[in-house]
Amino acid sequence: MYTKISETHLRSISSIVGEEHCHSSLDQRKAYGRDETEDLSFPPEAVVTPANTEEVSKVMAYCFEQGIPVTPIGGQTGLSGGALSVYGGVGLSLKRLNQIIEIDTKNLQVITQPAVIVEELQNACAEHGLLYAPDPASRGTCWIGGNLAENSGGPRAVKYGVTKDWVLNLEVVLPNGEVMETGANTLKNSTGYNLTQLMVGSEGTLGVITRATLKLIPKPKRNILLLVPFASSVDACSAVSDIFRAGITPSALEFMERAAIELAMEFTGSHELELADDTEAHLLIEVDGNHEQILMSDCETIMTVVEEHGAGEVLFAEDQAQKDKLWFLRRRVGEAVKAKSIYKEEDTVVPRYALPELLHGIKKIGLTIGFQSVCYGHAGDGNLHVNILKGDMSNELWDKELPAAIRSIFELVVSLGGTLSGEHGIGLVQKDYMDIAFKPNVLDLMWETKKVFDPKLIMNPGKVFPSYYWKGNIM
Ligand code: LAC
Ligand code: ZN
Repeated sequence: MYTKISETHLRSISSIVGEEHCHSSLDQRKAYGRDETEDLSFPPEAVVTPANTEEVSKVMAYCFEQGIPVTPIGGQTGLSGGALSVYGGVGLSLKRLNQIIEIDTKNLQVITQPAVIVEELQNACAEHGLLYAPDPASRGTCWIGGNLAENSGGPRAVKYGVTKDWVLNLEVVLPNGEVMETGANTLKNSTGYNLTQLMVGSEGTLGVITRATLKLIPKPKRNILLLVPFASSVDACSAVSDIFRAGITPSALEFMERAAIELAMEFTGSHELELADDTEAHLLIEVDGNHEQILMSDCETIMTVVEEHGAGEVLFAEDQAQKDKLWFLRRRVGEAVKAKSIYKEEDTVVPRYALPELLHGIKKIGLTIGFQSVCYGHAGDGNLHVNILKGDMSNELWDKELPAAIRSIFELVVSLGGTLSGEHGIGLVQKDYMDIAFKPNVLDLMWETKKVFDPKLIMNPGKVFPSYYWKGNIM
């Protein structure tokens, strides 16, 4: 059992961070008890906002000694409940560690603290002609620390990779308060176990990331953006792998069902885009580089492929304003669905070629159980966000039947060679499906690893591992 936070604990923590950075009012606790995952709310018992690594270390050491759980909290935009304090304890907001420490233009690297908004990090790098590519839909609000914890992706991952592909080195505070560096600020590193990559995507369950060295590349100077309509969603999905097989690696290749784009238009009040009556889905395709002619030739190849798959009239974004508008709509789909209905969001990912089969299978499961889904996502990566709408489904059906339906979706995903999450993480809401992705011996090995870092299980408890791991150990 975990220790409940008392007045004495609050005083001790306040003596580390200062009274004004240790809150236990209900308002503060509620404000830090949510992220973007459904309407879930798990307030911590205290919200603690340390100023620097040293204070994080002291808070961790104290909580370790006392047996108080600690949940690291970033920009609260997560979609798997990773930042929710499900066992109470300390909600450790990193918000005061919000500085870009250095942009190293000689080595093309940036050293940053965790609470920097990803888009601001990108803009700061762009001022030097440099690109930090991972760009989750929430990049205007999410923090780099949360992106590291969840191994976030986004549209451009298809060409440039996800967060893990940009991380060279991390400073981490371990659950017992020790501070360590996981690697070196080098592009290559074959020196010992790769603790950097173990930490990336560990969802705040192994330690607190307090500083990161990320690699940068020269920013491509040009891009072209196409919106391609299809009368059949499955045809749109089939075109995806053929684009790569034709020798093109787009810098984004997004799929949106008609309902996704319509909901985004309704949500944002932006209705300039006219959708043909027979359009069932779109691909949003971007190519980037430095030479217009090469990009035009890439687009010609793409046009040939999509026409072979029955595409309708392709919209070439005319100028930056139109590009921004299309991306604006695409990036708002998630929020738009959330505003429409109670929903469940699954972050399925399969090998790219299996995408049509996945989409077809999801719709079939939906028909059997009686749910509607809005599907969209990073088709180029085989990463399909499946939003299951409650709509007018009864509460009984929603609560009783849906977990089994989600299980069927994940079983389908795994049978197609895929897995549970491409970029949102497992966190709280997907943990009880982990047995579908992993055999018991693999989960046990992960659990043993977790215990090496966190023998008292105080670090973000209740996440990633199925409930039976937690019940057996801390209830
Ligand atoms: C997106 C988020 C939900 O792709 O990952 O919009
Ligand atoms: Zn996404």
